[in-house]
Amino acid sequence: MILVTGGAGFIGANFVLDWLRNCDEPVVNLDALTYAGNLENLASLKGDARHIFVHGDICDRELIDRLLAEHQPRAIVHFAAESHVDRSIHGPGDFIRTNVNGTFTLLEAARGHWMGLDAEAKAAFRFHHVSTDEVYGSLGPNDPAFSETKTYEPNSPYSASKAASDHLVRAWHHTYGLPVTTSNCSNNYGPYHFPEKLIPLMIANALAGKPLPVYGDGQQIRDWLYVTDHCSAIRAILQAGKPGEVYNVGGWNEKPNIEIVHTLCALLDELKPDAAGSYSRLITYVTDRPGHDRRYAIDARKIERELGWRPAETFETGIRKTVEWYLANQDWVAHVQSGAYRDWLDKNYAGRS
Ligand code: NAD
Ligand code: TYD
Repeated sequence: MILVTGGAGFIGANFVLDWLRNCDEPVVNLDALTYAGNLENLASLKGDARHIFVHGDICDRELIDRLLAEHQPRAIVHFAAESHVDRSIHGPGDFIRTNVNGTFTLLEAARGHWMGLDAEAKAAFRFHHVSTDEVYGSLGPNDPAFSETKTYEPNSPYSASKAASDHLVRAWHHTYGLPVTTSNCSNNYGPYHFPEKLIPLMIANALAGKPLPVYGDGQQIRDWLYVTDHCSAIRAILQAGKPGEVYNVGGWNEKPNIEIVHTLCALLDELKPDAAGSYSRLITYVTDRPGHDRRYAIDARKIERELGWRPAETFETGIRKTVEWYLANQDWVAHVQSGAYRDWLDKNYAGRS
């Protein structure tokens, strides 16, 4: 049995689905169902006894203590977080609460549980912390990609809160010996990606005939990874990762945002042509994000060398699958575009010229 936090969100839900496709070890899935959590992501697990969903908050110590005592998980995989940079700019408070205080609460509960285990279970126990490459800051055009020893230089409230949580995880290993592992992954994309993030937002807007808002000059670079490759990397770390170690996970796919948007338009032109002409006519440059990091790139050689992990998808195969998924799952998109989602679009985009 493993305990997953945030397993109703984009990556967490993909991880739970992927986990149960690959093995029969049950999953307790703790998720607060914020705007980003969606039980529809897990609909295919309805009636599957291997999946136990618990609606709750990682800041709730009593609940976590109870879940650990009742289910005795051999590992915790911690995804739960506030994850969107633009939202962290508009309202950083929730990011500190969940990403910092929530991770602290989970670590303390895990430590209490772990200390009570017998020697064998204690040695086998793992706390895996899912983090981001954004903690490392922004790269210049010729800088080497982020390695695990790169200094932390977080620039947004989101990345600062994730950096704080990484430091807590590190300290709980160093001070208390808690067997933790951490992964710092680059930008993910794929099914169930909430349409506030670049790729699903562009697909949703294009299909609705709305502007495709490119921040600034569109030359910011991200290193894209198909989400199931992130899931397989976490499985590899759980299986063979060394306690106290950090693993950078990336797809060797650095692309400027404007190129991503053009690729999406070309795929949509092919798969769902619009009588009005290419979707690229909708591309609109808008005011940049404050403090916008220019470039992220991951050096993923350590996880390949030590754990034999490499991504299975290329960007070309992954992005095609993603566009096909969104075209086949328009109901899912319609359901998440609720009133609250429209309020967010007004807040984030109305003030940009
Ligand atoms: P997401 O926003 O889609 O999902 C987050 C999930 O956490 C949601 O289901 C939400 O309901 C849940 N949650 C939020 N606050 C909670 C709380 N207090 N208690 C319990 N559950 C809570 O995020 P995501 O994109 O799936 O990211 C998952 C993790 O991966 C995060 O830790 C993020 O920092 C990290 N990460 C994301 C990316 C990316 O490209 N999306 C890249 C690298 C790392
Ligand atoms: P995003 O998906 O929010 O991920 P992150 O900020 O965590 O990297 O954004 C990816 C890139 O796309 C980032 O450089 C910001 C840019 N972007 C736009 O240009 N327009 C948009 O509407 C959004 C949401 C993002």
